[in-house]
Amino acid sequence: TTAQIGVTGLAVMGRNLARNFARNGYTVAVHNRTVARTRALIEEFGGEGDFVAAETAEEFVAALERPRRLVVMVKAGEPTDAVIAEFAPLLEPGDMIVDGGNAHFADTRRRERELRERGVHFVGTGVSGGEEGALHGPSIMPGGSAESYESLGPMLERISAKADDGAPCVTHVGPDGAGHFVKMVHNGIEYADMQLIGEAYQLLRDVAGYTPARIADVFRRWNTGRLDSYLIEITAEVLSHVDAATGKPFVDVVLDRAEQKGTGRWTVQIALDLGVPVSGIAEAVFARSLSGHADLRSAARGLPGPTPRTLPEAEAAAFADRVEQALYASKIVSYTQGFHQIAAASAEYDWGVDAGAVARIWRGGCIIRAAFLDRITAAYEADPGLVSLLSDRDFADEIGAAQDDWRAVLAAATTQGVPTPGFAAALAYYDGLRTDRSPAALIQGQRDYFGAHTYRRTDGEGTFHTLWGGDRSEVEA
Ligand code: 6PG
Repeated sequence: TTAQIGVTGLAVMGRNLARNFARNGYTVAVHNRTVARTRALIEEFGGEGDFVAAETAEEFVAALERPRRLVVMVKAGEPTDAVIAEFAPLLEPGDMIVDGGNAHFADTRRRERELRERGVHFVGTGVSGGEEGALHGPSIMPGGSAESYESLGPMLERISAKADDGAPCVTHVGPDGAGHFVKMVHNGIEYADMQLIGEAYQLLRDVAGYTPARIADVFRRWNTGRLDSYLIEITAEVLSHVDAATGKPFVDVVLDRAEQKGTGRWTVQIALDLGVPVSGIAEAVFARSLSGHADLRSAARGLPGPTPRTLPEAEAAAFADRVEQALYASKIVSYTQGFHQIAAASAEYDWGVDAGAVARIWRGGCIIRAAFLDRITAAYEADPGLVSLLSDRDFADEIGAAQDDWRAVLAAATTQGVPTPGFAAALAYYDGLRTDRSPAALIQGQRDYFGAHTYRRTDGEGTFHTLWGGDRSEVEA
């Protein structure tokens, strides 16, 4: 037998991806470092399709039709390099290694370069949708060469999620690290979405005085409107879940320290290097990190705050509606920031990423899938050269319509001492972009004063310095 595709690394993501290929009619070679996992897959799911179990790397490579398509599903980082080192010597020019892990795009660029020298295509591929997505259809973000996409594209389209209009949630994102970069920003946006939802929850709880079960109902209602999304849907599920052991709301028995595996942090680190303000994503990462500092939090426990004051029932519903506006407006901002980052990286690395296509493949399968992505797709279809999502007429109108409520929610949050870093950062970004005159002029003056760093003038060309320590006359620098 020759297999059309092989999957090595059979932890839950790899196993489910292999099953997805098999269920779609492909013959799939499967391999794992410890053979027991390979055997378990065949035993449990062998009936789902045509699998070829390979016990060694040599067997695995020999089982694949040429050019070989080999999918690596191991933990990002050193394990990926170890697998490449093991397989690369067994491959031939034209073969393809697809890395479906959450790799750092710089690692992907390096691996792509190294393997290209041997004629092997390295296809760094973002895969989103968790375990279920891997099995039933993920959103897939392949980078690498156009040639490799010609070979892999049809298979990936087959196993990918389909959007409501039937379009497969996969596209050739761009060369080398483009796919993993876009997946990373997907995760950064995922962090921001989760943080914003968390802030909405906290406001409904502390300001509106709602119980988790009632908040779940609010989220269910929101989920029938413009916020319709996977994350809102699962949030309602989590909030309505009751802990069996205590009978308390599940959310009240979970330790409030958020963990993270790194993709959100990378998004922010790289945004800093690119000079792209992703403040919403950054606040989401920082909020997780703040939550984890148990020592700081317990030391701060006695610090004074405002006296808690829950809204009277008659005002709570109107407040909840305002929170929906604030959440939606903030969401527009975090996607604006994420797409800016993708555009900046695409320009920096010459990837030619099509922002509209990215929005299109995020409509299904992935964690941030949402009706909202249809809107972003439409915005880029209307104007492929869109500078910013905020310059799309429809988004501009919506955010304009939301702004009064957005401000009112933040005012309430501040007065009541409910931390809303995501909402606040989003509004500050919005106001910062809108403003006619920013205090950056003053900052330039300060820089020139203490360090002769020079400034430019509003009324002409050139670079200037004021003789601050002397007669304060202006000289051309
Ligand atoms: C996805 C998810 C997936 C993973 C996150 C979790 O798109 O399917 O984003 O990649 O679950 O990376 O990230 P944290 O553990 O950092 O929250």
